[in-house]
Amino acid sequence: MIQIAIMGLGTVGTGVARVVAENARQIERKLGEPLQVKTVLVRHFKDGPYRQLMTDDFRKIEEDDSIRVVVETIGGVGAAYEYTKRALMAGKHVVTANKQLVAEKGCELLALAKKKNVNYLFEASVGGGIPVLHPLTQCMAANRIDEVYGILNGTTNYILTRMVRTGASFADALQEAQAKGYAEADPTADIEGIDAGRKTCILADLAFGHQVDPEKVPMEGISKLSLRDVKLAERAGYRIKLLGRAVRLPGGGRTAYVAPHLIPEDNPIAGVEDVFNAVVIRGNATGDVMFYGKGAGEMPTASACVADVMEALQASPRREEIGWSPDTDGFEDPAELQSRYYFRIEGSLGDAAGSFGQVEVLSENGETAFLTDRISGLEARQQARNLKTLACMRVLP
Ligand code: HSE
Repeated sequence: MIQIAIMGLGTVGTGVARVVAENARQIERKLGEPLQVKTVLVRHFKDGPYRQLMTDDFRKIEEDDSIRVVVETIGGVGAAYEYTKRALMAGKHVVTANKQLVAEKGCELLALAKKKNVNYLFEASVGGGIPVLHPLTQCMAANRIDEVYGILNGTTNYILTRMVRTGASFADALQEAQAKGYAEADPTADIEGIDAGRKTCILADLAFGHQVDPEKVPMEGISKLSLRDVKLAERAGYRIKLLGRAVRLPGGGRTAYVAPHLIPEDNPIAGVEDVFNAVVIRGNATGDVMFYGKGAGEMPTASACVADVMEALQASPRREEIGWSPDTDGFEDPAELQSRYYFRIEGSLGDAAGSFGQVEVLSENGETAFLTDRISGLEARQQARNLKTLACMRVLP
């Protein structure tokens, strides 16, 4: 019998306990022994099927040598950070879905895991149930990764889809996403692009091998997005989606950011709706490879956690290819990155038109919506300040 502990019994923690129980036979067949949740760390005791396993004392896990893997689903960087360090110090593997902790402290925790000869695995931190980090670090290991981009937040994709399809208000669509267990405890992180930003940092860390400081990554969400832009974009053959992008720059630098983008509707990612996420990894040998599936929710995310538990137990002695350098040099602001831009401005374009190269006007009716030639982020920012700008978004190349 292999014993594990779960720290935190929210949506994902509950899902982990359910997957371990409901898929016990498949898991045992693969591990050669049954897997059992022995202890569940909670802040407040509550009734339910796991009542007998609950403790509010982390030392019950730390000092229990029979517990080989700890699943951290507390979230944040407070208690989760401290307990993760202590669990690793105690020689236990740690598995997590906590993207904030991995984005901010992953490099340090991986180094500690290495020192203690155990695994720190976090497949569930990006893309929920979609396998993304394993393919990136294992299956595509022979590539130079030039870009990773994707729809990385289920809540905002769900909100956008509901608004466009059913005309639901932003507030109602958000409430639905919360009821389905997709949103973070504080949904500001979803709506303002911070959750997608943390996932983008993790992808960039692994793709480029250097720590990306989340503080340096511009993160813009969907709270300022207007349905008018969604409709105008659709008429012109584009869908608007919140994308995280991590790009290797021609000079050898790297950049990353999160923002709503116009996506040509023939790009498969344009059709990704509801809570689904999709990640495109561009390898120099493979070209674009796309991963698609449920990016949030109890059981999909738990599936990735439990698979990591199984891998931690089977990896012999540990997964070596997961990790990156703490050196943050070479990270650049996305201002240098060129692309076409969508603008909607008050009034007409007038004399400003020439500064955008070849302009494609989408609508003129008291206000003007248009697509520019390729310009840099810096130029777009300057123009947005000069004009009476109502919306300004990159077009995915
Ligand atoms: N709140 C996140 C989302 C959960 O909506 O994608 C998964 O990380």
